[in-house]
Amino acid sequence: MKILAIDTSCDETAAAVTEGRKVLSNVIYSQVLVHKSWGGVVPSLAKRAHEERIDYVVSEAVRKAFRVENFSPSELASLKEEAQTSTRIQNFQHFFSQIDVIAVTQGPGLAIALEVGIQKAKELAEKYKKPLIAVNHMEGHIYSSFVQNSKGNPSYDFEFPYLALLVSGSHTELVLFKDHISYEVIGKSVDDAGGEAIDKAARMIGFGYPGGPTLERLALDVKNKDFYKFPRPMSHSGDLNFSFSGLKTSFFYYIRKLSEEEKNKNLKELASSYQEAVFDCLIIKTEKAMKQTGIKKLVVGGGVIANKRLRNLLRALVKKYNGSVLFPPYPYLTGDNAAMIGVAAHFKAEKKMYMQDLSTLDRIPRLSL
Ligand code: KG4
Ligand code: ZN
Repeated sequence: MKILAIDTSCDETAAAVTEGRKVLSNVIYSQVLVHKSWGGVVPSLAKRAHEERIDYVVSEAVRKAFRVENFSPSELASLKEEAQTSTRIQNFQHFFSQIDVIAVTQGPGLAIALEVGIQKAKELAEKYKKPLIAVNHMEGHIYSSFVQNSKGNPSYDFEFPYLALLVSGSHTELVLFKDHISYEVIGKSVDDAGGEAIDKAARMIGFGYPGGPTLERLALDVKNKDFYKFPRPMSHSGDLNFSFSGLKTSFFYYIRKLSEEEKNKNLKELASSYQEAVFDCLIIKTEKAMKQTGIKKLVVGGGVIANKRLRNLLRALVKKYNGSVLFPPYPYLTGDNAAMIGVAAHFKAEKKMYMQDLSTLDRIPRLSL
């Protein structure tokens, strides 16, 4: 079953064609340059950029998916035969007939940005009479560790249950991933998300959006040491929730006391200490969740998981408990992309979770994950 998936939840216009866990094509048109100087994603600019790019991104994804190398010899032979009798082979419409299902990110995300993808998916589903599947963006991030390339790598299979740690620019969650499309959120941030907390701190010391990669580089230069010991909010709360706003405030007051010269001289130390504090909060609650649930198999997802320091801390954590951790296998899978949406949709299709009434897609309550 071939799925065309679309994600416009934030600042990437993304489309992919997937089959099972395999990605036949993946197109991401990043808006990073549009938002960089604003220190964060500006919703109205995101909406306009999605509108300008969505048709191009979708048609590229469909075109790339049907490159010859993605076909078996027998499929190719029949396509060639068809091509000889028809000029339609170059035609988007012709390729589109090979798509079985359309999947789209329904939320969470920026409402006016999501809307662009949802409208496009509805339009295509109606025009080409394809069933439509709504996917939760965080559900996509959970499945990102199981996405395979077109050759089926990596080949590891599911071994439920998992504990999923999701850390993106808008969400920080601990989720029990019990079985396909079966989740329970057991912890989440009560204020800022991990990525958001990092982006805001980067902005406070003069860097643009996204702040994560910048802080990672600065911190690496001082070997990820913790110089200032900023607070780890809620680390002793009995629950599995996170909080980053106290840490952000404490960072703000600390740098306010510094002269411009002092701040610039200590940028690396500030970045490293702050990053350590954020990651420590993540590790403390993940460890608590492992102890509480007895689950030692982690799967992680979201933009912040690109960070090598965080990956090493997670590896050290599971080693302590003889557990394991799965990371998104290819770099593009940590950030936002539609391939993970297509793979999550595949498992929803197996459960026949199709949208019955397309007109309700943008009105039904966003799944809470
Ligand atoms: O998942 P994502 O691409 O978008 C959302 O769904 O929000 O996550 C974006 C977040 C941003 O906050 C960005 O600063 C952070 O991921 N990020 C990183 C790194 N790369 C991206 N954070 C830490 N280290 C990185 N290398
Ligand atoms: Zn995301």
